[in-house]
Amino acid sequence: MSDKINHGHIEWQAQNTPYSLEFEDFYFSTTNGVEETTHVFLEQNKLPERWLSLEANEHFVIGETGFGTGLNFLVVADLWTRLKASGDITQTAELHFISAEKFPLNIEDISKAWNFWPDFKHITNQLAANYPVPSPGFHRCRINSDINLTLIYRDATDAFLELEAQIDCWFLDGFTPAKNPDMWCPELFKAMANLSSLGTTFATFTAARKVTDGLKAAGFSVEKKSGYGLKRNMSQGQFISPGPMLPSNNEPWFHHQVSAHLPKDTRLPIAVIGAGIAGCSTAEALIKQGYAVDLIEQQDYSAGPPPFSIQGVLYVKLSAELSAHSEFYASGYLHSLKKLRNIPDLEWEQSGVIQTAFNDKELQRQQKFIQNSPFPKSLIREITAEEASEISGVHVDRPGLYFPSGAWVNPISLCQNLMQGANLVHNTRIVSMASAENRWSLQSENGDTFGPYQSVVVACSNSAAEFEQLGNHLPVKPIRGQKSFIRLKKDNFPLKAVLCGKSYITPAINQQINYGATFNLGETTSDVREVDHQTNRENILSNVPSLKKWLDQPVSMGIVGFRCTSPDYMPLVGPVPDWKAYRSEYADIHRFKKQIFPQAPVLNGLYCNIGHGSRGLSSVMLCAELLACQISGAPLPLSRSVINHLTPARFLVKKLKKGKF
Ligand SMILES: Cc1cc2nc3c(=O)[nH]c(=O)nc-3n(C[C@H](O)[C@H](O)[C@H](O)COP(=O)(O)OP(=O)(O)OC[C@H]3O[C@@H](n4cnc5c(N)ncnc54)[C@H](O)[C@@H]3O)c2cc1C
Ligand SMILES: C[S@@+](CC[C@H](N)C(=O)[O-])C[C@H]1O[C@@H](n2cnc3c(N)ncnc32)[C@H](O)[C@@H]1O
Repeated sequence: MSDKINHGHIEWQAQNTPYSLEFEDFYFSTTNGVEETTHVFLEQNKLPERWLSLEANEHFVIGETGFGTGLNFLVVADLWTRLKASGDITQTAELHFISAEKFPLNIEDISKAWNFWPDFKHITNQLAANYPVPSPGFHRCRINSDINLTLIYRDATDAFLELEAQIDCWFLDGFTPAKNPDMWCPELFKAMANLSSLGTTFATFTAARKVTDGLKAAGFSVEKKSGYGLKRNMSQGQFISPGPMLPSNNEPWFHHQVSAHLPKDTRLPIAVIGAGIAGCSTAEALIKQGYAVDLIEQQDYSAGPPPFSIQGVLYVKLSAELSAHSEFYASGYLHSLKKLRNIPDLEWEQSGVIQTAFNDKELQRQQKFIQNSPFPKSLIREITAEEASEISGVHVDRPGLYFPSGAWVNPISLCQNLMQGANLVHNTRIVSMASAENRWSLQSENGDTFGPYQSVVVACSNSAAEFEQLGNHLPVKPIRGQKSFIRLKKDNFPLKAVLCGKSYITPAINQQINYGATFNLGETTSDVREVDHQTNRENILSNVPSLKKWLDQPVSMGIVGFRCTSPDYMPLVGPVPDWKAYRSEYADIHRFKKQIFPQAPVLNGLYCNIGHGSRGLSSVMLCAELLACQISGAPLPLSRSVINHLTPARFLVKKLKKGKF
């Protein structure tokens, strides 16, 4: 796992060109950066000619080392947009630009660079709204409906070893090999080869021997061309050596066969079972990728939404070490924020979220976190009790951690917004599913049949275990939770930010406050209990006694729900394994570590998105994006290590590795 990300430090030199103080080199040509990009990267990779022959729904994927000011991306995105508008590129084709950047520029410096290119304002405006904070890992930004930028904040070799994508062309930027020898290493070229196929091209401004030899050794042909401006030579070529060179961390049991990807242009829709936040996010992500979706929900929505607002909290519990868990939840939180900001009618508020150090153990955890945190202060920072009081508007007598961009969100309002493009089939409980000849059909409790579908996504939380195809194989458990509501007599509740401790309380909405929730593992009854209201009250008051005056008012109502948790507190997202085939194909993985095993056998066209536990608002949207990419074959928005911790097969693999079946 990578460590803390440091910004690149620059000085503005000749012709307003940024100069790196770390590498003592310019970010781009002092003569004309746009012309240099066009000559070196676009022309030598035969762009845009290759775009003109893209077929409907095809993805064109560019991999880059060193995002810098983003100039290469801006030139590419601008040309792509113009050719789309003129009809030269097929309307449903999508561009993916994936750039590894170890020292991202801060927003002030990068914005200054963008100001020199007013022609790209239509892209830089979007980019500014999406430019990620320096949190390590993957950041997927949707620049517009057909341009996706994935910034990977880590060293280029590590980034590309962790990427799952099929790259069509490479832009090898990065400072000159003489100034940046570490980046231009054989491991980088091998990682590139693993993501390339025959016909993948590359271009780079350098013709240094170290680079050309390294690329040849990794399976690329290399040709010298004349460079731009003062540079005499540059290099260009393509991948000519077939055959995978799998990186050492590749575990075939986590890689499903590519045949599982289904084309979007088939007329058959995809079914999503369950219209909670996971199902609605999945439907939205699939629709954005061009699929038609039937969203099937057991609840009856005829009466419309409830006459009160539920306030869920968008925040995460991060650990000081950058584990797969922390990397996933930090990325998920940031991804949710980006999505929420773009939903015009959503009931939510970016009030900020304070995690108070509610006891000594939590205080020690928070102190350790602050000492070692790889996350930027713009994501999470420590605050004193005084600051917590000032930010929240109520007296808080403990320090804490503060998420300045944290929010509360009404999940019902979120679902209503996300499900808009789907065909909603409500009041329908699905009880079984069957597949024949790569087509799926669903049966409801009433005996109706739905389908045929090209794929099915099971997003119905704990009920997923009722389907034979998932059944006993998923170690998920329900955790009952009750929230309490108070209707205020006056609109004078002073809380301005969400306060979390053992429980959470949100600022008032429509003269109502809600707080909670209880945590009862394995309980499945849904009655609202007085004792649980008491627990919620005590948990809040033991943390913030100053709220007593408000919580002394009578509780007006309660709601009960069930979280769906897994043993490692990570969701289960991805293709559903063919459990029987797993047991036979991988029966020996505990014995022969070096044996070559086949890729993961999956139930073709069946996926799940469940197990979001207590933090669904931070996890469902990124998981939905992951699933939509797995189904369509687009580059995946998370690192290989994180995806391996989400794959539904992981618990079985763990058992098989111990020789258990
Ligand atoms: C009291 C409480 C408070 C919480 N607070 C927060 C919070 O502050 N922040 C946060 O991030 N998370 C919170 N959570 C967790 C969050 O609610 C979950 O992570 C999230 O709801 C998971 O979404 P989901 O879509 O997977 O599941 P669900 O919301 O349970 O949705 C599943 C849907 O599937 C439908 N369904 C089930 N079976 C079938 C079937 N057979 N056929 C058709 N439809 C079916 C259900 O009716 C339901 O609509 C809280 C949870 C509880 C219980
Ligand atoms: C010449 S600049 C890139 C120019 C960029 N394409 C632009 O349009 O501004 C090189 C970039 O590579 C980044 N870089 C240097 N070493 C790296 C490494 N090992 N991994 C990833 N990025 C690296 C630098 O931080 C810098 O932003």
